[in-house]
Amino acid sequence: MPRKLAAGNWKMNGDGASLAEIDALLQAHPAPGIDILICPPATLIERMVRRIAGGAIAVGGQTCHTAASGAHTGDISASMLAEAGASHVILGHSERRADHGESDGTIRAQAEAALAAGLRTIICVGETEAERDADVTLEVVGGQLAGSVPDGVTAGTLTVAYEPVWAIGTGRVPTTDQIAQVHDAIRAQLVDRFGDAGAEMAILYGGSVKPGNAAEIFAVANVDGALVGGASLKAADFSGIITALEGA
Ligand code: PGA
Repeated sequence: MPRKLAAGNWKMNGDGASLAEIDALLQAHPAPGIDILICPPATLIERMVRRIAGGAIAVGGQTCHTAASGAHTGDISASMLAEAGASHVILGHSERRADHGESDGTIRAQAEAALAAGLRTIICVGETEAERDADVTLEVVGGQLAGSVPDGVTAGTLTVAYEPVWAIGTGRVPTTDQIAQVHDAIRAQLVDRFGDAGAEMAILYGGSVKPGNAAEIFAVANVDGALVGGASLKAADFSGIITALEGA
């Protein structure tokens, strides 16, 4: 069975005062039955790691550059994230794909850089609303997965996040049948490419996951957790999602 993961993506939100949310999460989940990850803005990684002080919450970055260092103003490398205390990095989020023109090939190279730095990768895939309407969701997601995931990953180094672009931050969620269809296809593709390891890789659902809909989503086959944006910013909300995953 894949390990279950509740991952929070703070995006470009949060400041020093937000670290109080981490204290509340640690208090609510001193010995969680699942893995918990928060990916804050890079400026907060080191302080968050210190605040967690060995508690059961991992900290990750939200992207990394393909190179280890160099003349890339404003970018951050995988080894910098690792040195700051990150253990994971989200790659290929649809906001990165859209805002920064990141292609599958770029994301694959970022993932290779992350693996070389010892980071675990969470690689995001997902269709736009127009693609779903055109009935090409499985082709789009399958193509992104094939192009973005490098060779040589294991269940320890790769987690996939299925995030329909139209469900992110909108309050709209696919039906459980729609989620099941895509997650089953991702699972089949991972097993086809990576054999037994593909059966152990966690597949997260992301897009408007809230405490109120989490249990229903986590009951879907091949959903091993969630990548959560808005509802990860407040400990009370994220805690409800953690509890739902523990009970799934
Ligand atoms: P949301 O974002 O939970 O706010 O919809 C999810 C994500 O973008 O990872």
